[in-house]
Amino acid sequence: MARKYFVSANWKMNMTSAQTVSYLGRLIENLRDLKLKSNVVVCPPFTALRSASTYLDYEKDIDIELGAQNIYWEEKGAFTGEISPIMLKEFNIDWVIVGHSERRRLFGETDKEVKKKIRTAVEHGINPIICVGENIDEREEDETYRVVGGQVNAALEALSNVDYKDFVFAYEPIWAIGTGKAASSEDANDVTRHIRALIGSKLSPEISKEIRVIYGGSVNADNFEGFISEPDIDGALVGSASLSPKKFAELVKIAERQRG
Ligand code: PGA
Repeated sequence: MARKYFVSANWKMNMTSAQTVSYLGRLIENLRDLKLKSNVVVCPPFTALRSASTYLDYEKDIDIELGAQNIYWEEKGAFTGEISPIMLKEFNIDWVIVGHSERRRLFGETDKEVKKKIRTAVEHGINPIICVGENIDEREEDETYRVVGGQVNAALEALSNVDYKDFVFAYEPIWAIGTGKAASSEDANDVTRHIRALIGSKLSPEISKEIRVIYGGSVNADNFEGFISEPDIDGALVGSASLSPKKFAELVKIAERQRG
């Protein structure tokens, strides 16, 4: 059985609530005639989750899922500025992005913290989209497998002996994010295959066959088909190209066509 494609928009720090509603209206207009066979997810900023959730609740005919961009590992308390899993659950979110390279790099998030976030998410029934990837120096020094492997193994520790519904790994080489310089689909597939092998050895071969491993980093309508034609790439986490509902819908349509 082919794995279901997973196409997720990561809006990062873009979109007000009002813009979110207008975006979703246009996205749905573009996708309405399709009976979606892929997981289609949008991850707005926290402040737009309420309006996105209300809007998507009302649009029952189309299954667009909601994700958050971050989560904190405590349920409540003196953690100024953080958002807890219980707060996120109020918006019926299905997914949460964890360990994005911007959070690791700009906000000093460590593997240890990423682990706590993954564990918290799954304990609250929220599926993590776990981001991993090397920077340009690491790539040039042939350190990709060591760096990505370390991040993946840390994440997998958080997933052993817990009950989870689903999770996704997003391989996002840092040098490809927001640069217009995507990895080649073959190179990306080498790394996603490696991630799948690690899932197989740390969790189980069965789980590794089911779990979606996706690519992120300058994905657009010109390169997306190449990525999902690879055997070990099951979709994409999309930043810049997801900010236009039309462009994001294009990507979803490419995935839908690929599954025929
Ligand atoms: P990009 O971002 O598509 O703009 O490269 C991807 C991401 O950061 O998830």
